[in-house]
Amino acid sequence: MTIRAVVKGVGHYLPERVVPNSEFEALVETSDEWIRSRSGIERRHFAAEGQTTADLGTRAAEAALADAGLSANDIDAIIVATSTADLTFPSCATMIQDGLGMTRGFAFDVQAVCAGFAFALTNANALIVSGQAQRVLVIGAEIFSRLMDWTDRGTCVLFGDGAGALVLEAQEGTGSKDDRGILSTDLNSDGRFKQILYVDGGTSTGTTGHLRMEGKEVFRHAIEKLAETAHRALDKAGLNAGDVDWIVPHQANIRIIEGTAKKMQVSMDRVVVTVQDHGNTSAASIPLALSVGKARGQLKPGDLIVTEAIGGGLAWGAVVLRW
Ligand code: UT7
Repeated sequence: MTIRAVVKGVGHYLPERVVPNSEFEALVETSDEWIRSRSGIERRHFAAEGQTTADLGTRAAEAALADAGLSANDIDAIIVATSTADLTFPSCATMIQDGLGMTRGFAFDVQAVCAGFAFALTNANALIVSGQAQRVLVIGAEIFSRLMDWTDRGTCVLFGDGAGALVLEAQEGTGSKDDRGILSTDLNSDGRFKQILYVDGGTSTGTTGHLRMEGKEVFRHAIEKLAETAHRALDKAGLNAGDVDWIVPHQANIRIIEGTAKKMQVSMDRVVVTVQDHGNTSAASIPLALSVGKARGQLKPGDLIVTEAIGGGLAWGAVVLRW
């Protein structure tokens, strides 16, 4: 008997305020045309003053629980992928645990920046297949607007806020690649590249800091590393790119999404794309795209999905799952 971590529910939450590209034209020397053509982004959501990352995550988790037909106390563990926790501690995960009224189990954060959801899913899968948890709520929640330097046109136009969540449940599988649930994962990091994408604040400065990125350098690494990790994950599951029904990629830049799909020889009509509406929401982008992809009717039970993401660290990875 093989235990699989199967998706039982999915949901998301986006803050009300929608910010079109044109708003940045008054802030920095940029244009809607530049942002669209270089990144594919048309708009993004920004959290309201006073709204927290835990608030966003709690709303997404409630939606995923409702989709799963479960309540918070049916859950054994919460893992939150975030780089924008509201406080240094406690974790965003324990705040969401409280927000959901969940008084059992355990909760913790995972920090792997834009690749965070792949790392969180891998941890959740490990808890489930090792029998330490039956049901895990995996959340990506971010308020990247609070890390922006509003004078830096190379970064401030790219990011957005939001949250997405999955409920994973232990189910018996056959051990074959036809099982539903997570079939394989592949994680990577290389700290030699820590200076091309980072936030210049933290305990060492006593400030929250601002996001700094050498966009061209990150771009240079992205397509190759994403295609490689996706292929490795597929290979571990005994599958190949020809078996993929949907790529659900991290949504940083449409040119990276298209380049990765091309390298994998998967056509763009098999890719869930939300970057135009959300911008780059870091660890929230994959669960947001899964939730939107399901709502659009793109993702159907039994579909083979590969998710892939790269971000600060550099850290990158992929997860293969059958919906
Ligand atoms: O999720 C974490 C991972 N992050 C990413 O995946 C981001 C990866 N990088 C990218 O997506 C792209 O590199 C960017 C969208 C950030 C930039 O696109 P690019 O095609 O690499 O542009 P560039 O950085 O080479 O800049 C081209 C020009 C520069 O001007 P010069 O030096 O050629 O005169 C920039 O100063 O565009 C300029 N530029 C802008 N112009 C108008 C940079 N930002 C802007 C802007 N508006 N907002």
